[in-house]
Amino acid sequence: MNAPNSFRAQPDERGHFGPYGGRYVSETLMPLILDLEREYRAAKQDPAFAAQFGDLLEHYVGRPSPLYYAERLTDTLRDSAPDGQDGEKRGAQVWFKRDELNHTGAHKINNCIGQILLAIRMGKTRIIAETGAGQHGVATATVCARFGLPCVIYMGAKDVERQQPNVFRMKLLGAEVRAVESGARTLKDAMNEALRDWVANVHDTFYIIGTAAGPHPYPELVRDFQSVIGREARAQLLDRTGRLPDLLVAAIGGGSNAIGLFHPFLDDVDVKMLGVEAAGEGLEAKHAASLAGGFPGVLHGNKTYLLQDDDGQIAEAHSISAGLDYPGIGPEHAWLKDGGRVEYTAVTDREALDAFQLLCRTEGIIPALEPSHAIAAVARIAKDMPRDAIIVANLCGRGDKDIFTVAEALGVQI
Ligand SMILES: Cc1ncc(COP(=O)(O)O)c(C=O)c1O
Repeated sequence: MNAPNSFRAQPDERGHFGPYGGRYVSETLMPLILDLEREYRAAKQDPAFAAQFGDLLEHYVGRPSPLYYAERLTDTLRDSAPDGQDGEKRGAQVWFKRDELNHTGAHKINNCIGQILLAIRMGKTRIIAETGAGQHGVATATVCARFGLPCVIYMGAKDVERQQPNVFRMKLLGAEVRAVESGARTLKDAMNEALRDWVANVHDTFYIIGTAAGPHPYPELVRDFQSVIGREARAQLLDRTGRLPDLLVAAIGGGSNAIGLFHPFLDDVDVKMLGVEAAGEGLEAKHAASLAGGFPGVLHGNKTYLLQDDDGQIAEAHSISAGLDYPGIGPEHAWLKDGGRVEYTAVTDREALDAFQLLCRTEGIIPALEPSHAIAAVARIAKDMPRDAIIVANLCGRGDKDIFTVAEALGVQI
């Protein structure tokens, strides 16, 4: 492990970020995990791999995604900002990294492109994935169609109900969607089922994990594939303003869009970072904020903060946003929290719904419910920052998939 004065650290050889991470998997999976790590190290050294990844991101995904100054949102937040002590006007500038404009409508596709290229390098002929909001499932089904590989997506039955448009998209793309009826019938249960499938089909199957969690090397490789978000944002902001941001903000399910934005800035000591968990109905009630309300344990092959009872039984998470409805968090975030490099906060369903509507009306952008949590945190904080401060928030998904959930929450019939 590197000294904590460099938070842009690689995990140690057993995949630990400090006490977190690792590879807690069955004996059957261990050789696969080790193979994957070997292949990933080789791919990282291979200029042809980087060239193919970059080419697909540019011409298939549509990168670089724009960095957008949200002027009307900034002005609206400024209208309600109290003056500073010396009468100085307050309200930071809000900028968005527009990853919702990617092909398939979220950041998930960046990681799927990287992992399908790895699967092909490894000679795997069948792809499986888990999905919550369906964005990772759609992105996986998309790359499988693009490369002609069969694909099975595990999705909690509750998520199948609340993310119908994405279920249909996956089917149109040729994927088989298997609804998971166990547990809370959400993301955790889908991931359990995908891991079971993998154990049973190790010979030909590649598991495309959708977030920066799971056994080593997944947290590292998902982070690396998603770091294109932060690298682009850094270069774009420097180009447009000549300076780095004061604050980065991103929503956290497992933590892949957040670590993708944060990682390239981790050694810029003046750049503050805020990860936003889902506080659901409130931290005293049902929520999905594993850093705010959990403690370390082992789930899905890695050690991290988890929502659990005193016996280590995993608690059910709750969020209005299917993509944040997960009782754990990627191990690198657990380490960054303990080290104090990144701060974390939590936003309720209600606050996310308000932020969703605020962005629709001020900027003409319908965000997904996941980044609506980040927007709510921005709305809270921007008011207390000086006017020349810059916040960059990751708009990691668009809201088409969520309009039915939002309509129901607002009591509107559509
Ligand atoms: C649009 C969107 N944003 C964020 C997330 C949360 O995942 P992560 O924390 O890995 O970025 C999801 C997960 O489904 C998603 O669909």
